[in-house]
Amino acid sequence: MKHFITLNDLPNFHKTVDLAKSLKENPYSQEALGKRKTLGLLFFNPSLRTRLSTQKAAQLLGFSTIVMNFSNEAWALEFEDGTQMRGIRSEHIKEAAAVVSQYCDMVAIRAFASLVNKENDEAEIVLKRFAKYAKIPVINMESATGHPLQALADALTLKEHKTKYRPKVVLTWAPHPKALPHAVANSFSKMMSFQEADYFISNPEGYDLDKRITKNIPVIHNQSEALQNADFVYAKNWCSYERYGQILRTDNEWIITKEKMSLTKNAKFMHCLPIRRNIVASDDVLDNSNSLVIEQANNRTFAAQAVLKILLDHA
Ligand code: CP
Repeated sequence: MKHFITLNDLPNFHKTVDLAKSLKENPYSQEALGKRKTLGLLFFNPSLRTRLSTQKAAQLLGFSTIVMNFSNEAWALEFEDGTQMRGIRSEHIKEAAAVVSQYCDMVAIRAFASLVNKENDEAEIVLKRFAKYAKIPVINMESATGHPLQALADALTLKEHKTKYRPKVVLTWAPHPKALPHAVANSFSKMMSFQEADYFISNPEGYDLDKRITKNIPVIHNQSEALQNADFVYAKNWCSYERYGQILRTDNEWIITKEKMSLTKNAKFMHCLPIRRNIVASDDVLDNSNSLVIEQANNRTFAAQAVLKILLDHA
């Protein structure tokens, strides 16, 4: 594996989840593997879990880490080739990526979707240009269209909590006051294609995800119907994909409540966090013992550790 940009880059998805599980059981088992190596973490957007868990994962493998907020600390980057750089962008990605490669042995990058220009977002310019011009492996810490480290952590959480061979898993849209990207829903859906499960997506009309990603996953526009007999409920907001970046619903009809969870088969509740309480899900759902949200966050460390180990093994 040269880079970790999407789940498809993994040499073997199930072996990666197994590796994450074994690292969780014995997190210091590979503590010398990354000795004298440096992981750079570049953030174009805010983070709590990704920033801390990826650093912790690296440190458990013996790496040193360098973190930089590119949004306000670095020179503004130019990504286009052949431009005369007269504007506010002071540094070209060619130099920036090459320079980061002098200080780091791997670089992890977070660069969200703009939600303004679909074509530009789908081109994944930040991650792909870094991958093109860096001389080191590039790791996706959430890009415009995917959040594979979150999906790997979610796969580990599902593995730990499933009680039947083929559970029913429902990804349900939930309300949010801001327009949010599709990255988590996309990567979760991609991850579910590796699972033995009955997987459904439920969202209001107008919120269908990119069909090139969801393919033939059933989409149910009636949330109560979708939740019936579910074993896992994964709530997430995303903005409209078709009317790109727009919020089409401002009501709270799709909030996950205790009453809605009672339609399920005592389902476990999942969300990637951060979550807006009593907007996306009610307090009694989040505070219930069936909520896995903190375990999902915990598993981010071991998912990242597995990815870093695979990249080191392939170096
Ligand atoms: N789930 C997740 O990626 O959290 P952060 O945005 O806080 O990193």
